[in-house]
Amino acid sequence: MRHLSSLGCALALIPVAAFSQQKPANYDESAIPPYSLPELLKSDSGNPVTTAQEWTALRRPQVLALFQKHVFGKTPANWGKVVYETLSVKTDALDGKAIRKIVRISLADYPHWPGLELMLHLPKNTQKPVPCFVGTSFGGNEAVTPDTDIPLSARWMRPGKENGVVDNRSTEKSRGTEKDRWQLALAVSEGFAVATYYCGDVEPDHAEGWKTGLRGFLSKDGAGTEWKEGDWGAIGAWAWGLSRIADFLTTEAGVDAKKLAVVGHSRLGKTSLWAGAQDPRFGVVISNNSGEGGAAIMRRNIGETTAVITKAFPHWFTKTYSNYSHNEAACPVDSHMLVALAAPRSVYIASAEEDRWADPKGEFLAGLHAQPVFTLFGKKGYGVNEQPAPNAPTGDTIRYHIRTGKHDITRYDWEQYLPFARLQFGS
Ligand code: GCU
Repeated sequence: MRHLSSLGCALALIPVAAFSQQKPANYDESAIPPYSLPELLKSDSGNPVTTAQEWTALRRPQVLALFQKHVFGKTPANWGKVVYETLSVKTDALDGKAIRKIVRISLADYPHWPGLELMLHLPKNTQKPVPCFVGTSFGGNEAVTPDTDIPLSARWMRPGKENGVVDNRSTEKSRGTEKDRWQLALAVSEGFAVATYYCGDVEPDHAEGWKTGLRGFLSKDGAGTEWKEGDWGAIGAWAWGLSRIADFLTTEAGVDAKKLAVVGHSRLGKTSLWAGAQDPRFGVVISNNSGEGGAAIMRRNIGETTAVITKAFPHWFTKTYSNYSHNEAACPVDSHMLVALAAPRSVYIASAEEDRWADPKGEFLAGLHAQPVFTLFGKKGYGVNEQPAPNAPTGDTIRYHIRTGKHDITRYDWEQYLPFARLQFGS
């Protein structure tokens, strides 16, 4: 076990409004108890893993199984026949710069599940199939695009500060509320397609959401089944949706499905990491401010903790994960191992300076401590051991930046991800 000492930089204890009934969150680096990260390059039986081949054949499956058992649960392997239905094609989306397709992806054997509505924006007049970003959104498709002609989603929505949701449903005011988070015009102008879907199409984001979501429908006896230890959670279900989009993209002539980047912000950044860990078709894996349960090292106990997240959002994870509340040292994994599951593919981890709840330093450290696995493949990581200054991205196959500003995914973030993906894909 490698020993990591806690670092200086004392900051005050700051209560977080949303959790003010709980103990104030710790933001004091000097209050982190010494911790050891679980060994990446040692097999379950204690043997050292010294080659890329041993990692791929032996250790990687073990680490993946540990995340299934202890954190996200296991994604079921069989859901039967998948049906694609094109709902609309618009040839002058985004001020005439893009083709927009909306395609329903549903399951023939589970007709009660209404399916997910994939929205694909393709650049116009391209000479060859283009690389594609794939991600899930917090609101319906109408929230993602500045175009105003999308039918409003009828699905359950979480109310938010400025998302126009009333009685858990989208309204006209929901239109475009996520458009700054999805820099569609920029991506399209840079020659990328962007495929998105609303996470609530797969499972509404609340503790009982599985009852009307895909997990309920796929459970052996349908909705009403209590989720057991090791069964998948909502993050697993949302990640499943991202992989179904990857399936669809192999049938889409405009997209080069060998060049897919999975992207997500916050809870959906946890989702993109888990999707990237499970599905090697995502050649680039992007974690934007994913925090606890995502890129942040759980053992640091800065900002959000395992105890807080499993209490506030129990449905995101497999039940077993809550066993590590106030007991992180007992968890056989930490987030550096989640990042390592993407190796030798490319990973971009991004933090925001004011997003202390997500523990920017802990997010940085996950990429740093995943490096030994990438080294086995001859891939370079950050190239530095200390967190860089704000707005100064660093790294090669594993790259990192901390942006000035708050918890969000912004144009600045996309301006880093697009060239990163282009470089990794060589296109
Ligand atoms: C909450 C939660 C985080 C999550 C975030 C989000 O703040 O505590 O874990 O990442 O919501 O998804 O916006």
